[in-house]
Amino acid sequence: MSYNLLKGKRGIIFGALDEKSIAWKTAERVHEEGGTFVLTNAPVAMRMGQINELAKKTGSEIIPADATSEEDLQNLVEKSMEILGGKIDFVLHSIGMSINVRKGKHYTDQNYAWTQKGTDVSSMSFHKVMQTLYKADAMNEWGSIVALTYMAAQRVFPDYNDMADNKAYLESVARSFGYFYGKEKNVRVNTISQSPTPTTAGSGVKGFDGFISFAEKMSPLGNATAQDCADYTVSLFSDLTKKVTMQNLFHDGGFSNTGVSQEVIERFSEE
Ligand SMILES: NC(=O)c1ccc[n+]([C@@H]2O[C@H](COP(=O)([O-])OP(=O)(O)OC[C@H]3O[C@@H](n4cnc5c(N)ncnc54)[C@H](O)[C@@H]3O)[C@@H](O)[C@H]2O)c1
Repeated sequence: MSYNLLKGKRGIIFGALDEKSIAWKTAERVHEEGGTFVLTNAPVAMRMGQINELAKKTGSEIIPADATSEEDLQNLVEKSMEILGGKIDFVLHSIGMSINVRKGKHYTDQNYAWTQKGTDVSSMSFHKVMQTLYKADAMNEWGSIVALTYMAAQRVFPDYNDMADNKAYLESVARSFGYFYGKEKNVRVNTISQSPTPTTAGSGVKGFDGFISFAEKMSPLGNATAQDCADYTVSLFSDLTKKVTMQNLFHDGGFSNTGVSQEVIERFSEE
């Protein structure tokens, strides 16, 4: 169902890799709600080609940008305003990557060059995106910026590895930049802490299958899907949430406030 919540709003969406991506679902949903946007991803992700399909479907243009490169980001912001015909109302940062996770390097045995790269891509990039927008005065008043995070920033999930630290950093950047962007431009900045979701990035975490079904059984409402996340993000881009800022918003079917569920107790009682 569409409510025209984003009619006339312009944005930039980072991170749509394939149709499982949270950013992909969000782009489709934003399009349904009347928003227009530029799609962007790292040049290396572009070569896989699927993003063209999404661009066609949503009438969007694609501008490649490595989110760790200030030069790429400046070009992205400038060109997006040209293409969309004005300043930006919403931005989705849906980017995450850890080489330590990908290569199975244990948290107690980090390759620090990989750790640094992961932090640059997964967390510092959020600061870079916002600093680029801020310096170019590219955001409209009452605009909204959202990044995606995971609860490993607050609690230990051993296989989440250095991504836990990256997410803690990302959430802190949302608060700190949110202060300045709020004061200066009435722009809000939030993170959504999403349930485990079967995407390329998500499934890359060791033991993901067991973990996602555990989370499903722990959450009174069940896991939030990528589609649910797209809906929630639309609400944060809309004018209905103008005073929500500097928050880490749990979108996890109640997982984060559940100590144990009946289903999990029953599972353990079987033994
Ligand atoms: N899948 C989950 O279980 C889950 C749970 C909570 C939060 N998240 C977060 O959601 C966000 C989106 O991930 P997803 O699950 O949709 O997976 P995904 O693999 O579809 O998306 C990750 C994206 O990051 C992009 N990326 C990597 N390096 C980049 C760079 N240098 N510059 C620009 N883009 C780059 C990738 O190309 C890809 O499009 C991430 O921040 C992830 O940590 C995912």
